Amino acid sequence: MKDVRIIGTGRWIPKNQLTNDDLSSLVDTSDEWIRTRTGIQTRYVSTEENTSHLAAKAAQRAIQSAGLSPKDIDLIIVATMTPDGAMPSTACLVQKYLEAENAFCFDLSAACSGFVYALATATQFLQADFYNTALVIGAEALSKVIDWEDRNTCVLFGDGAGAVVLQKSKKKGIETFYLGADGKGDELLQCPGLPLQDPFAKEKQRIYPVEGILPALTMKGKEVFQFALTIVPACIQRILHQGRYDLTDIHHIVLHQANIRILEGVARKMQIPKEKFYSNINQYGNTSAASIPIALDEMREQNLLKEGEKVILVGFGGGLTWGAVLLTW
Ligand code: UT7
Repeated sequence: MKDVRIIGTGRWIPKNQLTNDDLSSLVDTSDEWIRTRTGIQTRYVSTEENTSHLAAKAAQRAIQSAGLSPKDIDLIIVATMTPDGAMPSTACLVQKYLEAENAFCFDLSAACSGFVYALATATQFLQADFYNTALVIGAEALSKVIDWEDRNTCVLFGDGAGAVVLQKSKKKGIETFYLGADGKGDELLQCPGLPLQDPFAKEKQRIYPVEGILPALTMKGKEVFQFALTIVPACIQRILHQGRYDLTDIHHIVLHQANIRILEGVARKMQIPKEKFYSNINQYGNTSAASIPIALDEMREQNLLKEGEKVILVGFGGGLTWGAVLLTW
């Protein structure tokens, strides 16, 4: 297999910060409840930039950190569950903003596992040897699909984007990946799209558009929490087995940032020192497909990732979907 490496990272966070106290003026909640149940202290909400804008800004920084120009990009994948629209893809809009006209572009839908799925997908395009350089972005404006009256969900999520540049290399990079899904868990996390219409129905029986009703995200939190506590250790075990490594060989584990208690639960269950896990959930909340690339960019910026170190990324979420990537930095 050809080697493919991450050679640049970037992130973009919208400017409006929402604290737990801010949210307690919207719904019946408290800073204490949110902090102790989730680890979240603040999150950011985008009121001006749509998903494509967040994605393009993160991508611009990733391209800059890779020392490349947008013209060098052959492929753009945007993992998102909150695209600007059904068409054009958010990735095409990113291509336009960046003037990355040599790239082909598409969006990928795998909810909070989206970035891991996209990284695995891009890796294979590069390994197939037809393309050299890919831009893989996780970007979300989740605030568009939040019911701001539902305290079960509105305190959890945030907006943002993270991006990596992936390139063929002579050095080791992405070593192995594992992806999975279980559509039978569809009802645990949902965000409906547009309903069907009957053009022959009498006007009053038409169901779309229904004024004032927007598609909102719903989640059965407890069930998803249990799913995460089972699937994340399974992903880590599986990817270690595939890569023929032991836990002691791994320097960093970057989980999708959904809840600090998931991270702590996995660490406890697998007897992994907590220091191996990176976490920024306190600042950003759950940014779905964006959470892992945002974390990677912060880690690179803080010089936490040393060349040659082994990193495991694990995503999990709606679908249900899950996935892991094992890479050498
Ligand atoms: O990114 C995709 C993957 N997502 C996840 O991995 C999320 C997984 N789930 C979770 O992180 C947790 O289940 C939550 C943070 C969503 C909820 O935590 P929990 O400890 O499972 O709480 P709960 O749902 O059992 O709710 C406990 C209580 C309930 O009240 P009662 O019925 O016991 O009286 C809720 O109504 O807390 C109440 N509650 C709240 N109270 C204050 C729920 N949301 C809030 C809130 N503020 N925001």
